[in-house]
Amino acid sequence: MNSDLLNGLNEHLKLEFRASHEYLAMAIWLAEHDLPGFSKWMRQQSSDELLHAQRIIDHLVERDQKVVLPGVPAPPTSWSSAEALCEHVLKNEQEVTASINDLYAIAEKTKDRPATVMLQWFVTEQMEEEAAARAVLGRIRLAGNSGVGLLMIDQELSTGRVPGMPIENPGPV
Ligand SMILES: [Fe+2]
Ligand SMILES: [Fe+2]
Repeated sequence: MNSDLLNGLNEHLKLEFRASHEYLAMAIWLAEHDLPGFSKWMRQQSSDELLHAQRIIDHLVERDQKVVLPGVPAPPTSWSSAEALCEHVLKNEQEVTASINDLYAIAEKTKDRPATVMLQWFVTEQMEEEAAARAVLGRIRLAGNSGVGLLMIDQELSTGRVPGMPIENPGPV
């Protein structure tokens, strides 16, 4: 494997682990603030991010490439509002998308077919992750950042579905 691609994939692991760690911290903060539906959503996202890291790790191990696990910075412990928290999620996802797109470009340039195929999954996944974060953020802005509106969105999220996302596309896996 091309060394830029290998280094880039190892670097990318940090973004996935960081997202997992931050989403877990968000799940805790949301539970503390009586928003169990939001908390459930973030807890699920946190688990998904670990699976994303694992996908890349598996790819590298299968190809006999060296995996270097990153250190993960301590996540924040509070957010000013549910809206601010969702803005943070969207920003995270946009950063991950940018990194995936960079990696995809290197994989294509170096004609690394297996890596291109592996990264293709992430391209689609990131589109869905950004859409889900934007959908929830949009609902918060519509309904208001507190009170009954927020409780309604929390109720929707407690069903395990991301509101605003098509039913046949229940959000990222
Ligand atoms: Fe991810
Ligand atoms: Fe994500």
